[in-house]
Amino acid sequence: MEAKVVVLGPQHKEAKKYFKCGNDILNNYLAHFALQDQQKKLSVCFVLESPSQEIIGFYTLSASSIDAKNTSDQRFMPFKTKYRTLPIILIGRFAIDLNYQGKGFGKKLLSDALKRCTLQANQIGACAVFVEPKDATAREFYLKFGFKILPHQSKLFISMQQLHQIYIVFH
Ligand SMILES: CC(C)(COP(=O)(O)OP(=O)(O)OC[C@H]1O[C@@H](n2cnc3c(N)ncnc32)[C@H](O)[C@@H]1OP(=O)(O)O)[C@@H](O)C(=O)NCCC(=O)NCCS
Repeated sequence: MEAKVVVLGPQHKEAKKYFKCGNDILNNYLAHFALQDQQKKLSVCFVLESPSQEIIGFYTLSASSIDAKNTSDQRFMPFKTKYRTLPIILIGRFAIDLNYQGKGFGKKLLSDALKRCTLQANQIGACAVFVEPKDATAREFYLKFGFKILPHQSKLFISMQQLHQIYIVFH
């Protein structure tokens, strides 16, 4: 099946109502708020759609920042910086529909997100990608793909420097 990643649009009005990933907050976000946030330029929502335009999964990206005090970890920032805040990209939401979970679509969509982040970081500086796992299960998923823990932070990160290596693993 040839699934493709596209930006969420008005054409997904019906499909997004049927998306169910097992987490009502994420389902509700896609159905009611993702397009609004996109129109306000708060985030962009990318959907993985089947040839019949069913939504297999989605993720959102936003420009964000992190307090430099939280980044003493050498894996995050292997050099000293005078800046108080550091630019990052946030994967705010990420989910795969229950009918498609366990079939490799999460891996495919995360790879798409990280590739997109890496390309964007060539245009607008960003030294890492962050995610905020909703629960322990989601946390395990991200850790499996190379995301790292920062002390006292619920968010996980992967540095831009690491991303090229991750692509090789993914593809
Ligand atoms: C977490 C989630 C995105 C995983 O998507 P998926 O399509 O089922 O994952 P895949 O089939 O692509 O799995 C890819 C790999 O990750 C592993 N994996 C999948 N879910 C995992 C989990 N919860 N913990 C650890 N590993 C996991 C798979 O075993 C597979 O490993 P392999 O490549 O060695 O075989 C999906 O279950 C989901 O949408 N859950 C509900 C919403 C959610 O938790 N979102 C996370 C962000 S808050």
